[in-house]
Amino acid sequence: MIRAFVALDLPPAVKASLADLQAGVPGARWTDPADLHLTLRFVGEVPEDRLEELHEALDEIRAPAFDLALEGVGQFGEGARARLLWAGVAPAPALSHLRAKVESAVVRAGEPPETRRFTPHVTLARLDRSVRPDRIGRFIEANAPWRAGPVRIDRFVLYESRPGSGRPHYRPLQDYPLDP
Ligand code: 2AM
Repeated sequence: MIRAFVALDLPPAVKASLADLQAGVPGARWTDPADLHLTLRFVGEVPEDRLEELHEALDEIRAPAFDLALEGVGQFGEGARARLLWAGVAPAPALSHLRAKVESAVVRAGEPPETRRFTPHVTLARLDRSVRPDRIGRFIEANAPWRAGPVRIDRFVLYESRPGSGRPHYRPLQDYPLDP
C-alpha cells in the first residue's frame, strides 16, 4: 500500500518565505520547509496496482498553467482545539479548475469522491493542546499582512506520504505538466 496525495509543489523562493513564518509559537510542530506543499486531493492508502490507474487518470488531465499568490495565515480548530496553522491562497479560479479535474481523475481511478469542501492551504505547523491559544492568536495577527508570489504553477505532483520519525515525509512519485 502507498499513502498517496496530489499536490502543488512550491518554488524555492515561496518555500523560503513560508519558512520565515515558522517561528513564535512554542510547541508548534513546524512542517519541514522542504515538505511545504498545497494539497489538491488526499487519496489515502492505495494498493500498488491501483496506483498505475491513478497515474493514468492524472496523466490525462489537460489544464492550463496559472499564477498563484499566497496570502495571510489562519488556523483550523478554535481555541484549545487548534490543530493546524496554515498559509492561505488568494482566490484563483484556475486552481479550483485544476482541483476539479484532479477530483474527477481520482474518482475515475476508482476512489470514492471527496465529501469535504476544498479549502486550499499550505500547512505550516501541526498543533496540540500544549500550544497556548494566545500565542496562536498573536501569530495570526502578526502575520495577517504576509504575502508571497504570484508564482507560476506549471505542474502538479503525485506524492507518497511516508511515516518518518515523529512526522511524515513526502516523496514525489510523478510530475504532471500543465499547458503553457
Ligand atoms: P493537511 O496538511 O491540511 O493536514 C499529506 O498528508 C497531505 O494530505 C497533507 O497536506 C494533508 O493536509 C492532506 N490531507 C488531507 N486529508 C488528509 C487525511 N485524512 N489524512 C492525512 N492527510 C490528509
